[in-house]
Amino acid sequence: MEKYAVLGCGVVGSGVVELFEKNKELIMKRCGKELEMGYILDLRDFPDRPYADLLVKKIDPILADPAVTVVAECMGGVEPAFTFVKQCLEAGKSVATSNKELVAAKGDILLKTAKEHNVNFFFEASVGGAIPIIRPLHKCLAANDFSAIAGILNGTTNFILNKMIKENMDFATALALAQEKGYAEKDPTADVEGHDACRKICILSSLAFGKHVYPESVHTKGIREVALEDVELCSSLGYNIKLIARVQRLENGKILPTVMPMAVEEDNLLSQVNGVYNAVMVRGDGISKAMFYGRGAGKFPTASAVLGDMIEEVQLDHTIPSQTWENVNSTDFIEDFSAFKAKRYIRTTAADAAVLREIFGELSAEKTTDKGEAVIVTEADLNAAQVARAAEALSQKGIKLLAEYPVLVS
Ligand code: HSE
Repeated sequence: MEKYAVLGCGVVGSGVVELFEKNKELIMKRCGKELEMGYILDLRDFPDRPYADLLVKKIDPILADPAVTVVAECMGGVEPAFTFVKQCLEAGKSVATSNKELVAAKGDILLKTAKEHNVNFFFEASVGGAIPIIRPLHKCLAANDFSAIAGILNGTTNFILNKMIKENMDFATALALAQEKGYAEKDPTADVEGHDACRKICILSSLAFGKHVYPESVHTKGIREVALEDVELCSSLGYNIKLIARVQRLENGKILPTVMPMAVEEDNLLSQVNGVYNAVMVRGDGISKAMFYGRGAGKFPTASAVLGDMIEEVQLDHTIPSQTWENVNSTDFIEDFSAFKAKRYIRTTAADAAVLREIFGELSAEKTTDKGEAVIVTEADLNAAQVARAAEALSQKGIKLLAEYPVLVS
């Protein structure tokens, strides 16, 4: 009988164990073979948990046991996860991970190691929780030349923004609730500052465009500065502010990955993704556009994706060639953020929109707030330098630019 091991028995790792035990019969049927839990690696003691007898504190017994053919890595962080995963692959064991930090930082190395040892490094759970997106990208949509991917890839921030909009909940209370529900990272700064969404768009960009995109190359801005005022004003103009992770291929052939709060038109499907749900829109020359939607975080949604990888893995005896990318040791294929252009939602201290029309040209929406602040959406696509020049021109007239968000055009 083949065995599996779980590295890290936190929220996701314990979810893998519990979901496997709950659905063991149907999982084994779908595997086409018998499978049982062999080891759970964790540095902590869990004397009261079931399966306490399977707990180990070192990787060695897992590496040494030939019956272990697949390993679920749910530890989080780059080390010691990277060392353990590499050792497992080198020992001929496939790995399924939920660890986006690991895939974004070391995916190229681990995919290469897996190939060298004729096993697989799977990471469906690393992006979008329960949503199938990794396998669709490199299998179902493998015939496409991709031009863009845009998504809501962080459940915690989407949950927070939603609570702020719909229930007037303050930021700190909404974040505490997301942590209580097991959505947030151990350090929720990674969610709030956009780093988690950044890692996920790095993984999707690497897979879609074939070259490793490191987090350092992605312009990343989180939601900490999003004011309830702008959320409400945007909404009154027909837009919702969402944390959008996006990559587009430009006419010069380079790609431009970004993570930032954007104003999304209400009739755009991404605008309607609420709570902990995530969604990913993929553009390709064959499909035009496809959307993927589901629970983006949480114990069982993520465990479901890890187990899905494990079920595929136990049926395979070779490395899947379509799930790969290379390290080109260069960022030349990534465009600088200064090239990013979009229409802008802009809030100012101007008494009305007339002066803003002089500076920004045609406007696609405008209003004056109760506080006497003019709010507009520009018709023209502007880059950051153009916005900075406009802010300077306004300041010479004694007007302040209070907030601005790029508008997502899907
Ligand atoms: N903290 C992540 C989120 C967990 O909120 O989306 C899933 O990757």
